[in-house]
Amino acid sequence: MINKLKTTHNLLDKELKVLLVDNSVNEELFKQADSVRREVYGDAVYLRGLIEITNYCKNGCYYCGINCTNRKIERYRLTKKEILNCCKQGYGLGYRTFVLQGGEDVFFTDEKICDIICTIKQEYPDCAVTLSLGEKSRGSYQAFFNAGAERYFLRHETATESHYKKLHPDNLSLENRKKCLFDLKETGYQVGSGFMVGSPYQTVENLIEDLRFLQKLKPDMIGIGPFIPAKNTRFEKLKNGSLTVTLKLIAILRLMFPYALIPATTALGTVSPEGRELGLKAGANVVMPNLSPVGYRKLYSLYDNKICTGEEAAECRGCLERRVQNAGYRIVTDRGDVKKSI
Ligand code: 5AD
Ligand code: FES
Repeated sequence: MINKLKTTHNLLDKELKVLLVDNSVNEELFKQADSVRREVYGDAVYLRGLIEITNYCKNGCYYCGINCTNRKIERYRLTKKEILNCCKQGYGLGYRTFVLQGGEDVFFTDEKICDIICTIKQEYPDCAVTLSLGEKSRGSYQAFFNAGAERYFLRHETATESHYKKLHPDNLSLENRKKCLFDLKETGYQVGSGFMVGSPYQTVENLIEDLRFLQKLKPDMIGIGPFIPAKNTRFEKLKNGSLTVTLKLIAILRLMFPYALIPATTALGTVSPEGRELGLKAGANVVMPNLSPVGYRKLYSLYDNKICTGEEAAECRGCLERRVQNAGYRIVTDRGDVKKSI
């Protein structure tokens, strides 16, 4: 079955189900995923410098620690100057992609975001700007693109309508989420999507739906991570998503989408001290260290016990370099564009 997935990049639902539930296949699955990753990308691991520009959000996603109903957290937004300062530090450390991520914050109008993108591109023309700012109109996506942003992350979170409703309030819809993703593609972005693993009420069938949706979208980047409960949310008492299932899905994604850029996420590193290394060995080829000012990191609390919230940018860079090397890979400091559209 793993061979079939490797050569045809596809499997039947019932076969995917066996791969997902049977742990005796894990070793072979990870090995094959690593071999495909090495065929396409060698031992390269790409760096993305993550700048968390605001933890204000107008949405009330039930799982997320910075959702608008949480009155217990302190809110912050970075100034343009602070954002540019993060880029300056990051550039010095070898970062050539900056990811501006934030809640859906009405303060950051299109005009403000475009101005920030333009300035980053002027000062660092050899860098890529990635946005992760949620659902916007097609016009806004176009304006950001015209200003110089070239990549956009927007996880679909779950591709099953009934499951989506259990995780989100009524004013949010899976339909709009999907529309945004296709708008982004049509605008010309390199698009990233993805989902949480082990989110509340999730079934194996839901995960298979997620894979099917990604096959339709054909994203360039795919970010997945385990669900982790967040304080002051209705899911605060639930358990983490499984490390093993997340690793299995990374491997399956690598075999389905040989060219994808797949991060070993911070959430993976949060559920296990070796999580990101294991993610790389299961087929991931991107790491996204935090470049946000240290004083704000703890406030960008999507979930509890997030790692790297107390480290300086330079410490994270050094730490990751060692971790990536110990896992048997090598950090490269170019822009790390997708090798081929998938
Ligand atoms: N656990 C894990 N991941 C989460 N995210 C949001 N809340 C949580 C949580 N409690 C993820 C979502 C979002 C990304 C920025 O963080 O998938 O798209
Ligand atoms: Fe941030 Fe290790 S990557 S401290």
